[in-house]
Amino acid sequence: MLKCFDESCDATLMDRQPFMFQHKLLGHPALSMDNLRRAIAALPSDHVKYSKGLLKNGDDFETASVQHRNGLSLEETIESIRTSDSYIMVRSPQVDESFGSVFRDLSADVLTLLRQQMGDRPGLLIAPRLYLFIASPNSHTPFHIDRNSTMLMQFRGSKEMVIFPALEPKVVTEADREAYAAYANTKLPWSPDKDAFAQRFDFRPGHGLHIPFMAGHYVRNGSEDVSISMSIIFNTPRSQAQLNALKFNHQLRSVMRPMGLGPSSVGQVDWRDSAKSNVWRAQMRIRRSLGLVDD
Ligand SMILES: [Fe+2]
Repeated sequence: MLKCFDESCDATLMDRQPFMFQHKLLGHPALSMDNLRRAIAALPSDHVKYSKGLLKNGDDFETASVQHRNGLSLEETIESIRTSDSYIMVRSPQVDESFGSVFRDLSADVLTLLRQQMGDRPGLLIAPRLYLFIASPNSHTPFHIDRNSTMLMQFRGSKEMVIFPALEPKVVTEADREAYAAYANTKLPWSPDKDAFAQRFDFRPGHGLHIPFMAGHYVRNGSEDVSISMSIIFNTPRSQAQLNALKFNHQLRSVMRPMGLGPSSVGQVDWRDSAKSNVWRAQMRIRRSLGLVDD
């Protein structure tokens, strides 16, 4: 029995295709505007990013808080969110006690779903974290991909969620996906013809939505109200191996390109992704031991 998601949440589809479900957290006190105002102000400043809300596809979502400042303080942004054309993203609000129990319940639900899909074995749920998204009416979150899987829940306002197949090269080329995974280039090329591949979801309070690992997406917030959403993001052993394999491929591609060659695709053969991941991790261990990287 899941505590936060309803029974329409189909575990067999996770990381295979996007799907909607209902969540049971509507009215949770942690998500009230009063608590959000208090908790966000109390969080370490590096947990909170905010920017203009009306961005466009082709903008770099990951650097928006630097490149598209809204000219307001965080307090002013929260107070004027209905009218200030702003977007606030909060990382790991669970460090505030008001989000502690909901984080534990969501993590338990995701683990239950992963066990239903993959069987009960240790280490299925990797690095679960919460995110909060608070956006002015009509905000637009530009096309981007995430390095994790997502269960997104809507609490106030509406969104059109536009989601693309995870591995479609006509949406994101393999080279662009690898560079994105490696943080080498987070500005993804966009052209409207990619919309032909999209699935669109009308997302309203009480709705939940699964966004598979590496599935590109953009978001249009409704015009009628401020939008408040929360997600739990996570990796699995498979998505973690794919992520490392993408970083490995990024490195390998630059070596192979002068020879007119490219690395084998990620996401096709699990053992090959795992082998690349193991090489990548070994290499990172060596670089860390030599003091060449921080993490
Ligand atoms: Fe996202």
